[in-house]
Amino acid sequence: MSGAQTVAVTGAAGFIGSHVVDALIARGDRVIAMDNLSMGSWDNLAQHQDNPLFRFEQLDVTDAAAFRAACKDARAMIHLAAFKIPRYGKTLDTLRINSVGAENALEICRELGAKLLLASTSEVYGRNPNVPFTETHDSVYGPSAVRRWAYAVSKLYEEHLCYAFREAYGLDFVILRFFGSYGPRQHLTWWGGPQSVFIQAVLDDSEIEIHGDGTQTRSFTYISDTVRGIISALDAPAAVGEVINLGNTEEITILELAHRIYRLAGEDHEPKLRLVPYADLGGGYQDVMRRVPDTSKAERLLKVRAEVSLDDGLLRTIEWQRSVQPVATSV
Ligand SMILES: NC(=O)c1ccc[n+]([C@@H]2O[C@H](COP(=O)([O-])OP(=O)(O)OC[C@H]3O[C@@H](n4cnc5c(N)ncnc54)[C@H](O)[C@@H]3O)[C@@H](O)[C@H]2O)c1
Repeated sequence: MSGAQTVAVTGAAGFIGSHVVDALIARGDRVIAMDNLSMGSWDNLAQHQDNPLFRFEQLDVTDAAAFRAACKDARAMIHLAAFKIPRYGKTLDTLRINSVGAENALEICRELGAKLLLASTSEVYGRNPNVPFTETHDSVYGPSAVRRWAYAVSKLYEEHLCYAFREAYGLDFVILRFFGSYGPRQHLTWWGGPQSVFIQAVLDDSEIEIHGDGTQTRSFTYISDTVRGIISALDAPAAVGEVINLGNTEEITILELAHRIYRLAGEDHEPKLRLVPYADLGGGYQDVMRRVPDTSKAERLLKVRAEVSLDDGLLRTIEWQRSVQPVATSV
């Protein structure tokens, strides 16, 4: 599927959503952008305000009637609206929004005969120690008393819903597991990820808080690479019915990330680091010690691979973050 079409995007005012809307509009698609603006911002979409290809609907994806009414002409839906890791509570929001939102999205796509792209996450692999993760790796979680896993479980449930809708109704879906996307418009708190708070700490000349001893690793993906993968998945017939990792294979420890950001920001002194033991984070906090994608499936089915190196991406992000003021948020 390519060329002019109407695409519904949920979570459109958020970090990834707003870049996806930019890309769709740039290639001439009509976009129905939906968001309840709980974590996203209209400022991320305001550039499209007067474009006839663009329509914004402020709504909650758990409100099935409003959601359905907004999507009438959609040929495809990119479902990004979600509540992420409940680091400081709001576990119920994570479970409710993600499960009810995805079920509504799938039901609406079924009614419209539309394809659904589901935003999933590397978090789905949980604590599986065997990196790099291929899409067939097991999901390994800790106890239910640890609230972190609520997010992984909610996304895994969304993935199972996709398979169930395909089995029951023949619905076309693509599940995309994102690995640490970052770049301009990312949230400036932990909601945006460690790179975001580390850059902010460097710019504020405050301490960088490292959870645990900092030897845990991550793979970060620059936003333009994430968006290219999403758009390719929208178009590629071979991706239908598949789960696909979208990420960068460059692995870095959290400690090295802090040092790297200091260096790239032009600081010539040692970073101010504060190591916070996991036990002090409360809620039986558990971490994922290594996280690296195997991206061969994305290369094969979507013909994409990450092009922006971590250094280049961080430089661009630091430059952007310098240009904006922190926005207060309750998370
Ligand atoms: N950013 C990443 O690195 C990353 C990694 C893995 C998975 N994901 C997934 O990608 C998607 C987008 O993530 P993001 O980083 O852009 O997050 P984000 O918080 O910036 O965007 C999510 C958007 O959804 C909106 N939203 C939340 N609840 C809603 C509701 N009930 N109804 C309508 N809108 C609602 C928020 O206002 C926000 O604008 C999410 O599904 C997330 O789980 C992101």
